[in-house]
Amino acid sequence: MEQYVIKGGRPLEGEVVIAGAKNAALGILAAATMTDDKVLIENVPYVSDTVTLLKAIQNIGATVEYKDRHTVVICGKGIRGRDGLAVDDEYIRRIRASYYLIGALLGKYKYADVALPGGCDIGARPIDLHIKGFEKLGADIDIVTGGRIVAKAGRLTGAHIYLDTVSVGATINIMMAAALSEGKTTIENAAKEPHIVDVANFLNTMGANIKGAGTDVIRIRGVERLHGAEYSIIPDQIEAGTFMAMTMATRGNVLIKNVIPKHLEAISSKLIEMGAHVIEYDDSVRVMADGNFKATQIKTLPYPGFPTDMQAQMAAVLALSEGTSIVTESIFENRFRYVQELIRMGAKIRVEGNSAIISGVKGYTGARLVASDLRAGAALVIAALAAEGVSTIEDIQYVKRGYEDFDQKVRDLGGEMEIVDSERDVQKFKLRVG
Ligand code: UD1
Repeated sequence: MEQYVIKGGRPLEGEVVIAGAKNAALGILAAATMTDDKVLIENVPYVSDTVTLLKAIQNIGATVEYKDRHTVVICGKGIRGRDGLAVDDEYIRRIRASYYLIGALLGKYKYADVALPGGCDIGARPIDLHIKGFEKLGADIDIVTGGRIVAKAGRLTGAHIYLDTVSVGATINIMMAAALSEGKTTIENAAKEPHIVDVANFLNTMGANIKGAGTDVIRIRGVERLHGAEYSIIPDQIEAGTFMAMTMATRGNVLIKNVIPKHLEAISSKLIEMGAHVIEYDDSVRVMADGNFKATQIKTLPYPGFPTDMQAQMAAVLALSEGTSIVTESIFENRFRYVQELIRMGAKIRVEGNSAIISGVKGYTGARLVASDLRAGAALVIAALAAEGVSTIEDIQYVKRGYEDFDQKVRDLGGEMEIVDSERDVQKFKLRVG
């Protein structure tokens, strides 16, 4: 099995280019199936989640052509959407974002039959809000044995939908179905994440009429059909934040390029509070850190609050800060599984309910580690790069879901990190790095 092997202790230095946003890409690739015309999408991150979704889209009859590693042309014309086709294959069950195909296919064909989503196990991740939204638009929803959702409608009509909980997935999914419904839909208490705006902008480029994305009220006037478009996906806020945290943890100096600094404000302000220097440019940020870090409090919240997808990476830095920090997770219930791994590296962390109480230590020591989910894996990479000695990290398939060329990007910054797939290669790495 593949694993990362990392020798820590070197400050990261240089430049890193951030890929397109994975979570925006997943919505946009699904939405691209909503027209019979060709759609060209640029800045698609080459990570296993997008590759998997594209395979699933291809399996239902769309054509998918990679122009280059980050540019994809999709044509949904061949989708057999009206024939009662089930979207259920080895690919679709692997990713959570497969649920976007429900909204996309329901909008276009008034029929969707999609396997229930997989994804990272970070606690109960219901989709009741998605279902309620589709029902409000006039769809009948069945959850059939074997774990599939079947959504059907004679016609979809605009509705007033209030989301009880702020949900990124439900906001995007309802927005997609409503784009091809008759009349006006209002989504209240909508999520405001940058990738919601990106999916809305993409749908509008295809001819949809969506206003207010990025605020908590989104207004959609349904249109009859969508047409072809060309679109470039926004940069990945979380990949950028991960490299920012990594730079701080290794006391490095890195220019992080192809970012939208505004999307990083919650992360930047915490790093500054902890003692890093963060300089913002038009489309890049420089992070510099040395000396000791200060403890702080972090609470995850929907955007523009602190992102839950950066919680683990920040905790990996806070564990090296002087004093006591508290990290509170308010979005998902099972997002502290990396804590036991950091403890094995010397961290002092206690989990109480949905908070982690972190007493800073001077440093980490390398250990054998296992990634429990995507962002937990990223946090372990950060800790391993800051640690004394060599660490190995298993189950890196989670990390590959969301970080493109992670090991190569770290090596380009002077970090010692490789992917190996045997104990012999781990030993070889150790001999080489000394
Ligand atoms: C998306 C992101 C994920 C990120 C999360 C929160 C994608 C593909 N994934 O996940 O990386 O961590 O937003 O920023 O974009 N909820 C319900 N009922 C529902 C839907 C959600 O109760 O029908 C709850 C969830 O359990 C959770 C909260 O709402 O407590 C937020 O979840 P949501 O924003 O929907 O997360 P995802 O879209 O799954």
